[in-house]
Amino acid sequence: MAVLIAFLLFCGMLRSMAYDNGASLAARPPRGWSTWCTDDICGLLDLCFEAELHAIADAISSPPLSLLSFSLILLDDCWSSVNRSASGELQPDPARFPSGIPALVSYLGDRNLSLGLYTCAGTKTCKYGRPGSAGHYERDAKTLTDWGVKWIKSDNCNTGGLGEPHEYFGNFSRALNATGVPIVFHSCEWGLDNVFSWGPSLTQVYRVRPDHLPFWSFNVPGAYPPGGQGTGDIIEGMANASVTAGLAPYAYPDPDFVMTGLFQTEAESVTEFSFWCLWSAPIIVATDVRNMSAFKASVLGNTEALAIQWDPLLAQARRVRAGTAQLWIKPLQGGDAAIVLYNSMDFEAQNVSVAWAELGQPWAGASVNVRDLWAHKAIATNQAGGLTAPLVPPHGSAMWRISLVGILS
Ligand code: GLA
Repeated sequence: MAVLIAFLLFCGMLRSMAYDNGASLAARPPRGWSTWCTDDICGLLDLCFEAELHAIADAISSPPLSLLSFSLILLDDCWSSVNRSASGELQPDPARFPSGIPALVSYLGDRNLSLGLYTCAGTKTCKYGRPGSAGHYERDAKTLTDWGVKWIKSDNCNTGGLGEPHEYFGNFSRALNATGVPIVFHSCEWGLDNVFSWGPSLTQVYRVRPDHLPFWSFNVPGAYPPGGQGTGDIIEGMANASVTAGLAPYAYPDPDFVMTGLFQTEAESVTEFSFWCLWSAPIIVATDVRNMSAFKASVLGNTEALAIQWDPLLAQARRVRAGTAQLWIKPLQGGDAAIVLYNSMDFEAQNVSVAWAELGQPWAGASVNVRDLWAHKAIATNQAGGLTAPLVPPHGSAMWRISLVGILS
């Protein structure tokens, strides 16, 4: 009991640490699109030319995607020139952005979209060695906010000699804050150095896992950062309650982007999107939205799953049952809950069941209405005892919204 009370106090403490500088992009769990790993092997074929970004923005701001309230276009390690300007400012690659960044901000703004830019807290960016922001936090904060950028992702490479991560990310955060511009600070610290404790007070979005790669499982022994980079590995990592304890408005643990496609089975894509919504994680889509299959569009366009991401209670999701037939729950505003039944087996389909008693109060002994958030229909009414999702495919899942009807006597 004492341990439970201590844990709840810790969660409450983290919630109160959330960093609200008025940035509207972080008032709710963010939704956006990023250049990184957009249907490619991360960094190789980035859609990062002005004309491509115009086309992406047009697609995101036209029906049906415009109905989903995506608000961010984030340019990762692709936009900047290899050199600072003569006076020391970051500048865009002129071949990619001949009209400059403010023109792109304006193009996006006309479509209700905001621009985010990547930089690095260290001396050089991670993959391409472009100029980092170390020694230039104030200057870069001014340049980027003057351009109208509304989100900064700050990476964590080449940081030797800068002190502890909470110190240099803190310095960058304070420099951004000193501009007076409400801007989102997105730290990319891979779940290291106890970012769970300091991330929420310095940044609104903080990476809590290593880089997501377009595989289900990618866990090389001895790799740094540790923990595995496949979608299945990330799901396992997010089951650790301390990783997601800081979730609150203006404080979002970030498991990295969603792929909705490349190298995924359809079942895997559904599972990925279900979990990101269940966690109220940022949904930063790495997909060429100009050329989506009907299936991809139906995943991204699942407004019932997206409503779980934006549920106003913003409750932490909890894994109730680990193993090959997993059960997760997230309480929702008004008393309903979302549950995910997940088959983590690699090759076999299996039934995955829930007994309401496993969910604790108020579900034990209840009769329950169940809505399938992927079939978009009610699948059980006044159901006692529990329910089974039949033959869930390998790496597949069911996502249900459950409502309490009454307690059986
Ligand atoms: C790191 C980050 C990625 C991406 C690349 C770019 O690996 O974790 O998200 O930004 O750098 O180089």
